[in-house]
Amino acid sequence: MPRGKFITLEGVEGVGKSTNLQFVTDWLRKQGVAFVQTREPGGTPLAEQLRELLLSKREEVVDPTAELLMVFAARAQHLAQVIMPALERGDWVICDRFTDATYAYQGGGRQLDRSLIALLEQTVQGDLRPDRILLLDLDPDVGLQRAARTGAADRFESEQLAFFQRVRAAYRERAAADPSRYAVIDASRPLEEVQQQLQSELEKLIL
Ligand code: TMP
Repeated sequence: MPRGKFITLEGVEGVGKSTNLQFVTDWLRKQGVAFVQTREPGGTPLAEQLRELLLSKREEVVDPTAELLMVFAARAQHLAQVIMPALERGDWVICDRFTDATYAYQGGGRQLDRSLIALLEQTVQGDLRPDRILLLDLDPDVGLQRAARTGAADRFESEQLAFFQRVRAAYRERAAADPSRYAVIDASRPLEEVQQQLQSELEKLIL
């Protein structure tokens, strides 16, 4: 049984991740691809509890290393319970964010040492990396205005613009360093064009 493909969707708040994720899963369903849709942080009961802890606003200042370790704790559980079993039985995994978000938010946003992230990545994931990372790229100034319209801000959404600029820069830097793995999609373009590009990326994976 060949391993399923592991696809992740990434981007700063307000890039249209949910709408485009829906498009991706609808398209895969039409093609008859068996897949599991999941998200990070989260994807299992324990990892979803860690997500709540990570996203909830609190008086206490959250130490960036504590945040990083919680993200990887959730990821270890998610990999063991959901991602690895799905890939091994030949299903695709479509994941709303994965370790690129850690490089972007904890590395770029919180300015943690990338080599520490790389060490945890290797420890938790071994050699597993996404086959394709769909990066929705948008000026965070525009993204945050869009995100502000969709309810109360969580702990990350309450960060300042400069934080999201660092997040975006970190995403783009990673994509530029490994163009064979990343598809950078300009999310400022009309939705129809964004989805055309997503579809052509998915077509390449099916062939
Ligand atoms: P989202 O489900 O709306 O994308 O929210 C998840 C939040 O968690 C988002 O603000 C990014 C953040 N996050 C990290 O900081 N590091 C990570 O590794 C992941 C997966 C998410």
